[in-house]
Parts: sequence; C-alpha cells; structure tokens
Amino acid sequence: EKGGYDTFMAKEIAEQPKAVSDTLLGRIGTDGRLKLDEMRLTDAELREVDKVVVIACGTAYHSGMVAKYAIEHWTRIPTEVELASEFRYRDPVVGPRTLVIAISQSGETMDTIMALRFAREQGAKVLAICNTQGSTIPRESDAVVYTYAGPEVAVASTKAFLTQIVACYLVALYVAQVRGNKYGDEIAAVVRELQDMPRKVDLVLDTTEEMKRIADELKDAPSVLFIGRHVGFPVALEGALKLKELAYMHAEGFAAGELKHGPIALLEDGVPVIVVVPSPAGRSVLHEKIISNIQEVRARGARTIVIAEEGDEAVVPYADTIVRIPACPTLLQPLVATVPLQVFAAAMATAKGLDVDQPRNLAKSVTVE
Ligand code: M6R
Repeated sequence: EKGGYDTFMAKEIAEQPKAVSDTLLGRIGTDGRLKLDEMRLTDAELREVDKVVVIACGTAYHSGMVAKYAIEHWTRIPTEVELASEFRYRDPVVGPRTLVIAISQSGETMDTIMALRFAREQGAKVLAICNTQGSTIPRESDAVVYTYAGPEVAVASTKAFLTQIVACYLVALYVAQVRGNKYGDEIAAVVRELQDMPRKVDLVLDTTEEMKRIADELKDAPSVLFIGRHVGFPVALEGALKLKELAYMHAEGFAAGELKHGPIALLEDGVPVIVVVPSPAGRSVLHEKIISNIQEVRARGARTIVIAEEGDEAVVPYADTIVRIPACPTLLQPLVATVPLQVFAAAMATAKGLDVDQPRNLAKSVTVE
C-alpha cells in the first residue's frame, strides 16, 4: 500500500503534484473565473466581511499564515491568523462581519472545533478548509472548501499542507473576484500561474536525492535553523516543525529580519541555516533584504543551505549549498519551497534510524484540547 515507497511519507510527498492539481480541478473556469461550489456563503455575505480570522493548529496553522499574506494582498480585507488553542481564551473581537476560516486536514482537531464553535456563538460565519469529507469541522461550518489530497497516513503532514495552501489561494482569489479590487489584472495572471503549479511541484521533486545527501551530512548537527521572509517565513516554520517531529532535533524557524533582534546569538561555526529565498522577480527589495540576512549569518560562521529559484545568481556567493526550485510568483512560492524541506526532515529521520511515519509521542489527529 506504500506503492513501492519505503514510507507513507515518501509516497505522500511524491503525490503532491496530483494533490495540488486535484484541489484545483473544476474550480477554475475556461474564462479564468473561480467557482467554489461548496462555498455556500452568498456574494452579499462575502461583500460584508470586514475582517478574516484564520484558526488552525500545527502545519495547518502554517498554511493559515500563508493565507494571511494572500488574503490581505488580493482582497485588502484585514486578516489575522491565530492558533486555534489560543483563540477563544483571549476574548477575541469577532462578530457577524468576521469571516473565520478553520483549516484542518482531519476535520477532528479538538482545539480547532472548540475555536470554531466559539466563533459561531459570536455570530461569525465559519468557512472550513478540510481534507476529510463529512468530518466534524466541515459539518459544523457555514461553508466548506475541500482539499483533495486524498488520505494522508504519515503523521507528519505533507500533501495536505500544500492543498491547504491551494485552497487558501482559491478562497482569497474568489473573495477578490466577488468584491472586485485594484488587483483585477494581477488576479487573472495569478490564476494562470496557479494552474501551472502542479507541474512545478513535480519539478521540485527532483531535489529529493540532493536533500537526502544534505541530510546525511547534517545528521549530527545539534540544531538546524530555518529563515525566510514574507511567505518564506511560514515555510521556514514548517521546515522546522517537520524536523522536530521526525528527527527529534532542535530546529527553529525565524523571520529572517528578526534574527538580529536576538536569535543571531545562537549562531556559531558550522550551525546549519536553511534559507528560503523569495523570488527575485518583481520583489527585489525583499530579495535584497534576504541577501543581507544571509551575509549576517555567514559572517558568524553559519553553514548556509539556500533554497533559491532557478536563475537566481545573486545568492551564489553566499551559499555553501544551493538547492534550486522553479521560479514562480512570490505568493505561490510556498508550494515549491516546502517540498525540499519535507524531504530533508524525512531523510534526517531515516539517517538517524527513526520511524518516519509514526514519530514518538504524536497522533495523526489530536482529538483532545
Ligand atoms: O488535522 P489537522 O490539520 O487539524 O491537524 C493539525 C495539526 O495537529 C497537524 O498539522 C500536526 O501539526 C501535524 N503532525 C504536522 O505534521
């Protein structure tokens, strides 16, 4: 049932191009307009929304962080993202004009269920992004956009994460389409780019052998740091979470600009720092900034493993190792940038002789608060 792979996780990583394409299937018309059949919220309701709050846990929370960048950019609606376990215990400002988006692979995560119940009690509309048909979260929500990752068996989430991000893009672009905004032309172009992402996710699977080789070299490192900016920040957090879950290693993700405010003190000779480099196209400021961040860590002796787009030559002088990913618009980059980090974490676990699919202390679905 592992389809020739050694682990479910390896199989699920390899299934990501299909998972992304299945999640897009039937949702983009030939005219490039989005259709979300299970959306159920009316255009009038979506026009009234004055705030979006995304709630989720773990990996799903990281997809929610990506969602914040996408929703604010394309819809101009202020968006917060919050850990579901924190949300209802802090007297959050939620009302009938708040759209709460609950993201969950299993649909049974108790923290997320309790947060969505609280949101509905406050009169908010809840939209679920979920991979499990008929599970509690979509059943208790006002609307649902299913992800079509198929069953995810490995405890560490991979393909569900990519499809959650895709669903978030679809929701953001759909809301932008309903409300109309100054980014109309950009939206049409992004929809076309989105349709090309399964091919790019497939291309990035070619980095698998390289990531395994890097993991072999780093398996005895006491800790690994991940840095990124913009949507590369949640990718860094996700890379670190995967490594903690699977290889039981100290790993941390940081917003690259935040390093100098403290974490840079962790750096010493040979500490591996994995850098997620934003697309150089169109956002050169962000790109320039990360180059100075790479210089900062290198000057402290860090070993830099740089995840950068094909053709991005500016990073070459600062990288001990470069891992190439296909070029795509910055907001869509998490779909390709995450994949090498998933492979890396699984390879680290394998190199240490650990169980990739069933890490210690973890359950696939956390049904207690
Ligand atoms: O089923 P859910 O998406 O609600 O699960 C949320 C988290 O428990 C889950 O993403 C967890 O962090 C995974 N083990 C990550 O690999």
